[in-house]
Amino acid sequence: MGLIIAAALVKFYITTPIYYVNDKPHIGHAYTTVLADVLARYHRAMGEEVFFLTGTDEHGQKVQQAAQQRGLDPQAHCDEAFRRFVDLWSKLGISHDKFIRTTAPSHKAYVQARLSALHAQGDLYAAEYEGWYCVGCERFWTEKDVAGEVCPDCQRPVQRLVEKNWFFRMARHQEWLIQTLEANPRLVFPESRRNEVLGFLRQPLEDLCISRPKIRLSWGIELPFDRDYVTYVWFDALLNYLSAVEERPGTWPAALHLIGKDILMPHAIYWPIMLKAMGQGLFGTLLVHGWWLMNGRKMSKSLGNVADPQALMERCGPDAFRYYLMREMVLGQDSDFTDGGFLLRVNGDLANDLGNMLSRVVKFALKNLPSPLSGPAEPSGSEARRLRAQAQALPEQVFAWVRELRISQALEEIMELVRALNRYFESQSPWKAMKQDPPAAREAVLVAAETLRIALVLLESVMPGKSAEGIARLGAKHASGLEWGGASGGRGELAFEFSEGPALFPRLGDAPAVAAPPHAATVKPPAPPVAALTPLILRARIEAARLHPQADKLLHLDVHDGARVRSVCAGIRAFYKPEELAGRLIALVANLKPAKLRGLLSEGMLLAAEGAGGALELVDPGPGTPGEAFAAEGQPAPAGEITLEDFQRRALALGGGAVLMDGQLLVSPNGGKLRCGQPDGSKVR
Ligand code: ME8
Ligand code: MG
Repeated sequence: MGLIIAAALVKFYITTPIYYVNDKPHIGHAYTTVLADVLARYHRAMGEEVFFLTGTDEHGQKVQQAAQQRGLDPQAHCDEAFRRFVDLWSKLGISHDKFIRTTAPSHKAYVQARLSALHAQGDLYAAEYEGWYCVGCERFWTEKDVAGEVCPDCQRPVQRLVEKNWFFRMARHQEWLIQTLEANPRLVFPESRRNEVLGFLRQPLEDLCISRPKIRLSWGIELPFDRDYVTYVWFDALLNYLSAVEERPGTWPAALHLIGKDILMPHAIYWPIMLKAMGQGLFGTLLVHGWWLMNGRKMSKSLGNVADPQALMERCGPDAFRYYLMREMVLGQDSDFTDGGFLLRVNGDLANDLGNMLSRVVKFALKNLPSPLSGPAEPSGSEARRLRAQAQALPEQVFAWVRELRISQALEEIMELVRALNRYFESQSPWKAMKQDPPAAREAVLVAAETLRIALVLLESVMPGKSAEGIARLGAKHASGLEWGGASGGRGELAFEFSEGPALFPRLGDAPAVAAPPHAATVKPPAPPVAALTPLILRARIEAARLHPQADKLLHLDVHDGARVRSVCAGIRAFYKPEELAGRLIALVANLKPAKLRGLLSEGMLLAAEGAGGALELVDPGPGTPGEAFAAEGQPAPAGEITLEDFQRRALALGGGAVLMDGQLLVSPNGGKLRCGQPDGSKVR
């Protein structure tokens, strides 16, 4: 080699779980796969040799049953069902290098070869096994697990089964595994999950049952040494990580396995022990992420609350959806999907802070400055220099967070720069400076454009399409480098040829600034909009109004809700005279638990906006028949009574002159809004 020092190319092998083909992909599958894609893209950007694997898990009881129910042969079912994943990944811009299917002949042959070797080595043995078996979960449970003879996982009845099966000698590696976990702090990440595994290992490990008799389950890979048996899901599925790279020597073991917390134990216990027994090196890190919940609840088909990635993507495009997933879930924690939170994020971070900034810079430049526009990379203003320093420091920080596997923090860091840029642009006000000090206006535009360029380049792994679109809009001379001005130390030149175009991130759901403050990063959507807690808001008509005899703040109203006349007490006496209310259309919260207010029944509440000094103004539902409901698009339909407290947990406010709930516009079936003349941002209650 002489004097040339060869830099070893860092290998980065990254995997997702292989997903069962008995289900449609949902937001959870999309999350793990997008996270893997984002990590893969960042590592490619850092110059590493990446191999990114995803795929489908096609054997087992559930798949066999799903096929049976459709009257299909299991292979035919798989050949169709795996496409749902491939298609979704292609729409989401997933850049995997290989998609593995466990029914592929090469994978089956690999599993059989491994089984033969382990058998020959004495690592597998046959034994009678008796236990409680859950068909749905495809697993045996011990006596103490099945109190009441139901499965502790799915709550369905379990059956008593005695059968011969094949076992993998796992117990004898328990001590080795404990030591290995203790010596490798990053083997299971985050730390809380590693502790969970170590805690589990305080109990003696049992050997692992790896087979099922074909009479019970035929849809699997046949054991090469006992043809009446197929291998059981995990022994087949986990081996995909090796079989996929069989023909790429050197790829294993530089691996980062991404999984959800549901499959921690198979990956943190069976898999390392299997690798040890097979004489393979250990994977690098098992990254265990939390759970996506839907409005505070576990997603399930029976609750009908499974978030469909396809529908979300159609609303905002793949890039904004990817951004939402990555920004919202903090490593190690569960994350709640709510429509309000989704809108806050996409409208706040992307439409407002990033997209709007870009279009302001471009529009201003095209209108007021020469094109192409260039100038020195070294800005003269002190604020500009601070912003440049922040932008120059950013790539290192972002890559450090990526290496730490904390993508949401990496994004927060980038958005922090974008928000600083918003403040800078506002304080420079080039539209004012243009008159007295044109060079200052020009510098502000150049600095803003270069800051945006660096932010967009760093966002490329998360939003490949939008990032390229934004950079094209800037027409930057140094389109892709991470250096300020394209040269180290900022000594280069800034040069842009701007072009106008449609909004990079159109606002979603007509939600104006009140719903999406620029510093939305820490704003949590206030309420879990589950059906049972959703307010029912109706157009209603006041038939008659009078003073409440016992309370000097209340009026007592007769309100027609389209079906009947209700008695309602309303705290608007200081702002409305009874005689001006008769015949007026109002918005009524109609599913509140009735209450007695100073002796009179109140069966609902009128919506009113709070103006300056606490004055209340009734919300106007527009012309139409009483009884029509106003709801946020995509919200669950109200089901049953709610308490005042439930109602107060919702954030109602004016935006764009109409009422928003949790950031979402409330509309009637024909698109009518709840109007009010108070300023945007006013609270509605
Ligand atoms: O378990 N939140 O496949 P699977 C976050 N075939 N992630 C979720 C999620 C949620 N609500 N729901 C699912 C299997 N996931 C086996 C794996 S690997 C050798 C075999 C994601 O279709 C998460 O990554 O049930 C979870 O681990 C995986 O989907 C389970 O997918
Ligand atoms: Mg599952």
